[in-house]
Amino acid sequence: MSWIREGELNFIEKITANILKAGPIPKHVAFIMDGNRRFARKKHVERQEGHMQGFNKLAEALRWCLHLNIREVTVYAFSIENFKRSQDEVDGLMELAKQKFVKLLEEQENLEKHGVCIRVLGDLTLLPLDLQQHIAKAVVATKAHNKCFLNVCFAYTSRYEITNAVREMAWGVEQGLIKSSDVSEAMLSECLYSSNSPNPDLLIRTSGEVRLSDFLLWQTSHSCIVFQSVLWPEYSFWNLCDAVLQYQFNYRSIQKARELHREEQARLQLEADRACIAEVLQHHGNGKPADAQRRQEVLLNYTACREERSQDFLKALKHKRNTFLSDLSSQAAMA
Ligand code: FPP
Ligand code: MG
Repeated sequence: MSWIREGELNFIEKITANILKAGPIPKHVAFIMDGNRRFARKKHVERQEGHMQGFNKLAEALRWCLHLNIREVTVYAFSIENFKRSQDEVDGLMELAKQKFVKLLEEQENLEKHGVCIRVLGDLTLLPLDLQQHIAKAVVATKAHNKCFLNVCFAYTSRYEITNAVREMAWGVEQGLIKSSDVSEAMLSECLYSSNSPNPDLLIRTSGEVRLSDFLLWQTSHSCIVFQSVLWPEYSFWNLCDAVLQYQFNYRSIQKARELHREEQARLQLEADRACIAEVLQHHGNGKPADAQRRQEVLLNYTACREERSQDFLKALKHKRNTFLSDLSSQAAMA
């Protein structure tokens, strides 16, 4: 089974999709694809078969998302916590991922046709080297595509991601690229694995579990969260429509909360910048209070410098990450 499934919706599905599309459609949907093993038990099949059916459902769900004009999808495919499962299950999931990333590379033409960009979010170094290389090849091969985006969280937890982002900023301070006073919520967001994506509008967890299980905790504070009892391999087009409908019912309050958050962020940043220039003015003003015009000039200048430092640091970080992936990808080509 490939990642991209061709195929139209049936008549009733098409009408439903068109009705939904008359309202606001989430630009970015995240899935916690839960319930593969319960599905396997229910159907009396091997656990690995449950995970395989889980992958097939992902390919199907991506097709539904495209029909609904949902252009970005993020999925929780393997949590760092999942390493604690039996060796046999972990090996099975690694093997499944390897097969699928190899398959993905064979489908490059199709991915190009649909403009699908695949990103993998997580600490690849925790994975077997051959899987790291296949993933890197897939990511590098599709990085210029920009019609739709699939973010696969693999060897991922949110706390690990946030801790890593804090370490990256500490590295930036250590390297003299930024000052510790440049650290902000906005900068931390830019250091997350998800920095290339807008926050999800809708997060769906299947299988009846009502926890976030360390998934996108930072990114979903203003997202619509929908818990559905269906097991992931049994997920249907109608389940997705139901979740989108719940997003539409909550659309206004979500937008309002986001707007309030943006305003609060801008206010906090201005306050932080003012606190920094107060020190500058005291240092250069020989104890004399600066007039309003001088304060405004210093503030503008300080903000521009901080912005420039931050952009240079983020460029260096991106370069470090891209180099890691392209080195892995070319190692794979040589192997
Ligand atoms: C949760 O169900 C599912 C997983 C831990 C694995 C999800 C992986 C896939 C769907 C395959 C995706 C692969 C790629 C390469 C994208 P569970 O195992 O927790 O089942 P349970 O909740 O019934 O125990
Ligand atoms: Mg589970």
